[in-house]
Amino acid sequence: MLCLGIESSCDETGLALVRDGKLLAEKLASQVDVHAVFGGVVPEIASREHLRVLPVLLTELLKEQQLTIQDVDVVSVARGPGLQGCLLMGLNFAKGLVLSTGARLIGVNHLWAHLTAAGLEQKLVFPSLGLLVSGGHTHIYLIESPLKFTLLGRTLDDAAGEAFDKTAKSLNLPYPGGKLVDDLGKLGTVDKKLFPVPYVNNDNLDFSFSGLKTAVATYVNSNPQLRMDIMGIPDPSVEGIELSSQRNDMLASFNYTVARKLQIKIERALERNHGIKSLIVAGGVAANSVVRRVMSRVAGRSSIPLVLPSLHLCTDNGAMIAYAGYLMAEAGCRHNLDLEAIPRGRVVPSDWICDN
Ligand code: KG4
Ligand code: ZN
Repeated sequence: MLCLGIESSCDETGLALVRDGKLLAEKLASQVDVHAVFGGVVPEIASREHLRVLPVLLTELLKEQQLTIQDVDVVSVARGPGLQGCLLMGLNFAKGLVLSTGARLIGVNHLWAHLTAAGLEQKLVFPSLGLLVSGGHTHIYLIESPLKFTLLGRTLDDAAGEAFDKTAKSLNLPYPGGKLVDDLGKLGTVDKKLFPVPYVNNDNLDFSFSGLKTAVATYVNSNPQLRMDIMGIPDPSVEGIELSSQRNDMLASFNYTVARKLQIKIERALERNHGIKSLIVAGGVAANSVVRRVMSRVAGRSSIPLVLPSLHLCTDNGAMIAYAGYLMAEAGCRHNLDLEAIPRGRVVPSDWICDN
């Protein structure tokens, strides 16, 4: 079964081909540079970029694999949550392909796709606890199968990725700041007391990052020298080692605080859900070195494997959509041409039709 995956929910256009559960090839066009000047994704511009590059990437992808669109059995597309205009570009493209070839259409939940992406690299065992930490979401799921996800906890305000991006912004570091905050933090020393670990003294599995955002803003306001005069990557030989070190220490402490917060809630979820056979951590923030280290310790203590997609599968990509579509097609699922795009904030319905 040859499955084409289409990802266009935010600022990455991703296309991939998965044959019988194995990744054949993929193409990714990032719009990061286009949006960097605005300090965040501009939805209108993002939609236009998807419209422009989707056909180009598809032609390249098929040509390099010496395939034609007629060889594709399943067209799998991210149908939400995401930016509505961006999703519509991918959905309409997918529907056009399906209309012209007769392939099966499958609308994939972008969040579920992040969590099953690692299945391209290793066998997934269920039931699993899934932590999705991305630019738009911080969710804990109980995953009983690739088609059965139960939401156990979620962020009440900012997502983990947003917390990273806003911290970077407060220091005038380039957008998106997560990777740079991670990299600079690696050079610093953690002060576990610098920032409070917010919203953990409760009994739930939800997250809140607004307290941490305020704590970071307060720290930067009291230490304005940490803010770059011109947006860019700090250069210790220009600004001085002392200043760079202080910023790196702050970022090391920030990385620690986010990871610690995720750890507390995941440990709580593991205590409450018996029989969990693996811990899956996915989404852009799963690329964070401290989060990866801490989660590996958490899984080790529960004697379950930690499933982490490799770095290129953590951020948005077409391969995860193609693979999630393959899993659904294998289970006999499909969508009709009335498949809807679901914007952020709305629950993605389980409205697939099952032949089995
Ligand atoms: O999953 P993703 O690619 O897109 C969404 O669906 O949101 O996640 C993007 C987020 C951004 O906020 C980015 O700053 C963050 O993931 N990110 C990181 C790292 N790499 C990307 N955050 C922390 N550490 C990283 N190494
Ligand atoms: Zn994503």
